[in-house]
Amino acid sequence: MAVSPPPLPLPADLAQVVESALAAHAARPGALLPIFHAIQDRAGYVPREALPRIAWAVNQSQADVLGTLSFYHDFRTHPPGRHVVKLCRAEACQARGSDAVVADVEGRLRVGMGRTREDGAVTLEPVYCLGNCALGPSAMVDGRLHARATADRIAALVEEAPPCR
Ligand code: FES
Repeated sequence: MAVSPPPLPLPADLAQVVESALAAHAARPGALLPIFHAIQDRAGYVPREALPRIAWAVNQSQADVLGTLSFYHDFRTHPPGRHVVKLCRAEACQARGSDAVVADVEGRLRVGMGRTREDGAVTLEPVYCLGNCALGPSAMVDGRLHARATADRIAALVEEAPPCR
């Protein structure tokens, strides 16, 4: 007897994003990462409400699916702010002063690392190497890489840029 899929308690547009990702990738070996990427690329995050359906589609336990999702820092389980700032926390950028930049950016943008500001304007995320080590501290603002990042420059970029979502 076929077991029916678990419900997908999400708004219709978000449910459609999840369904499309499952249709495109669920049958492939190693499907979880392509599914997560496809959902996050379109929705900005991977909703926790989708995990039972994803687990069902790939024939894995929800614990395994959540474990994989949590393992990779790049995936979010909450909607991001209108701007996303990623600051490199890896060793080469630390040697070039990224700790001070992080502290300054947190103050300038009024949001802590790993959080979204209350007004939804900006999300600040750590990232572990952007492949730009010689020109650190490195940052990514709305998907664009920036070398020799300073808090002033990052704050200006966030203020000047149109919302990325
Ligand atoms: S360590 Fe920061 S870009 Fe590589």
